[in-house]
Amino acid sequence: MKLSTKALDIKPSSTLAITAKAKQMKADNIDVVGFGAGEPDFDTPDHIKQAAIDAMNDGFTKYTPASGILPLKEAICKKLEEDNNLLYKPNQIVVSNGAKHSLTNTFMAILNPGDEVIIPAPFWLSYVQMVKIADGVPVIIKTSKENNYKATIEDLKGALTNKTKAILINSPSNPTGMIYSKDELKMIADFAVENDLFVISDEIYEKLIYGEQEHVSIASFNQDIYDRTIVINGVSKSYAMTGWRIGYAAAPAEIAKLMGNMQSHASSNPNSLAQKAALAAIDGSQECVEEMKIEFDKRRNYMYDRISKMPYISAIKPQGAFYVFVDLQDVIGKKFNDEVIEDANIFAKILLDVEKVAVVPCTDFGFNTHFRLSYAISMESIEKGLDRIEKFLNTLE
Ligand SMILES: Cc1ncc(COP(=O)(O)O)c(C=O)c1O
Repeated sequence: MKLSTKALDIKPSSTLAITAKAKQMKADNIDVVGFGAGEPDFDTPDHIKQAAIDAMNDGFTKYTPASGILPLKEAICKKLEEDNNLLYKPNQIVVSNGAKHSLTNTFMAILNPGDEVIIPAPFWLSYVQMVKIADGVPVIIKTSKENNYKATIEDLKGALTNKTKAILINSPSNPTGMIYSKDELKMIADFAVENDLFVISDEIYEKLIYGEQEHVSIASFNQDIYDRTIVINGVSKSYAMTGWRIGYAAAPAEIAKLMGNMQSHASSNPNSLAQKAALAAIDGSQECVEEMKIEFDKRRNYMYDRISKMPYISAIKPQGAFYVFVDLQDVIGKKFNDEVIEDANIFAKILLDVEKVAVVPCTDFGFNTHFRLSYAISMESIEKGLDRIEKFLNTLE
């Protein structure tokens, strides 16, 4: 039987695979340090859990409107106005099963077969596969370390064709932790308007920004860019709620309607209890976010300082999210025993076998000379894991 050519072309998520492998090793009593985590190690704050418990006890256990309950949409609108200076009405909000689902809905709503989406590399690996799922064509532009792994207007111009439909922007970025400045975003916004493109702005790490930098939503500059931007956000990363699966999109009403229509057939509403929990997260005290941020910031500083002192590897200090994007160029071509380290995949494989440290090789993020470390794990594990990486590097010839 011939299966779907499109489905056969979709690669499984390599980050989930490496995290699963590290978890399995742990279960087998192997003393492994897993730097793969794309999720905060903190527990979901109590007031958020309590909202879900109350909802369950109140019998809030039935179907809700497919694109989310009105109070949650209203809270999201309030958040977008207060935090991002963006005015939306509830009919412009679609609440889905995580930001992953929101992104997939977005591509399905705007792309026709063959439409191109510009994705600056390094990128979060799912974007490419999601565009393909929606019959689009991902067009990758490789950014440079010199430009802090951010796309320039020249990069975008070089990728523009008469099939370009949209640009994907992820700030703060997974995997680099880089943030686009207001000026950089304004230039991208003007470029999108001039060339009649959509912008998909993934702002899921918005609340995890350290130091002076400020998050700006690209949709906030003027009506023209607002009318062509789909803002993606969610509660997974900011509120340690990855398992609850609530994300959302804010879009022009026409696009939100298409997304809601598709969702009404594909999955119906996201979990009713999780919606109540998300409402408590977004509408409640933001102190829990600040507490997690302080801890992440300590780990970020420690990790960056340690990496900066190690042989052969380097990184640019991340400004947001919870990842360090590590440059391995100077390791490529070196040998461990007799095996040549040709790329990040081989490096990660040997490191896991020999030192029992799991890192994410960034080949599927568009950079096969880099790997990603997450600092969403305990300080103790970070110290232990970095000691092992340093030891490993010192054995290379
Ligand atoms: C950049 C980025 N966007 C979106 C997501 C999806 O988050 P979720 O589906 O848990 O809301 C992730 C998760 O790893 C991410 O790193």
